[in-house]
Amino acid sequence: MRPSTDIAGGGAPRRRPIGVFDSGVGGLTVLHELLVALPQEDFVYLGDTARFPYGERSPAELEQFSAQMAEELLRRRAKLLVVACNAATSAALPALARRMMETTLGVEVIGVVRPEALQAVAATRTGRIGLLATPTTVASGAYERAIAEIDAHVTLHAVPCPTLASIIQAGRQFDELAVQTVREACAPLRAAEVDTVILGCTHYPLIRLMLQRLLGPSVTLVSSGAALARQVEHALSTRGLRTDHDGEGEYRFLCTGDVDGFREVGTRFLQMPFGEVEHVGLAHVEALA
Ligand code: DGL
Repeated sequence: MRPSTDIAGGGAPRRRPIGVFDSGVGGLTVLHELLVALPQEDFVYLGDTARFPYGERSPAELEQFSAQMAEELLRRRAKLLVVACNAATSAALPALARRMMETTLGVEVIGVVRPEALQAVAATRTGRIGLLATPTTVASGAYERAIAEIDAHVTLHAVPCPTLASIIQAGRQFDELAVQTVREACAPLRAAEVDTVILGCTHYPLIRLMLQRLLGPSVTLVSSGAALARQVEHALSTRGLRTDHDGEGEYRFLCTGDVDGFREVGTRFLQMPFGEVEHVGLAHVEALA
């Protein structure tokens, strides 16, 4: 895999990149799994860092932001879109998927909620599952609905975490305040004796070690990455969209905010060179949808 300065100027659909977006660096945990599962594919990742955090935005705002992010990725010739953000998936996935089917050449959109719900229901032995997520994601009820569809007898204990994604995105060393924030988020889940916890924000796998320590060794942590990557692999294969290129694919990063900060924190989390991060102006994005 290598950074690119010129992905997919055009050509056959299977040679086009997979588009991935999040409000910031959290979606890199999803991109990581996609790079592991699909090393030959090209990727274009867009972080809406100028409007981070998404976790307390209204559903209407998230619908609009998601449509704008998707349009920008389609301009980059994305053949499939991955919403690597739980807040955007919870609030906007159905509307975005409809929009993409109606207004484009049928580009599909895959989000992060359902793959986690499926894994969590399969993992729990007691039927008590915890959810840590941003306030918007918790308020949307998206996980309750997804879990009830899979098994109506499972109970979900949801804890909104208003500041956690921002602490992670800031990329500083974890201090006592950060640990205390995580401890407080975990306390109700320990009290509810859940045996499985869904990391319902793509930023949270970046502090997986701390979460496992504070939740205890018998709790299974579930994140979207690997299951979502399998869903993407399936979608590409069944729709004839898998690249026919054998070597390592290319990747490119874009963000709406400060490129240096994004490159610095992102490089540390993803542990690979970012190459040039391209700045996408908000005025340009806002004119797209
Ligand atoms: N990573 C995002 C999520 O999965 C959101 C964090 C935020 O922007 O608040 O929900």
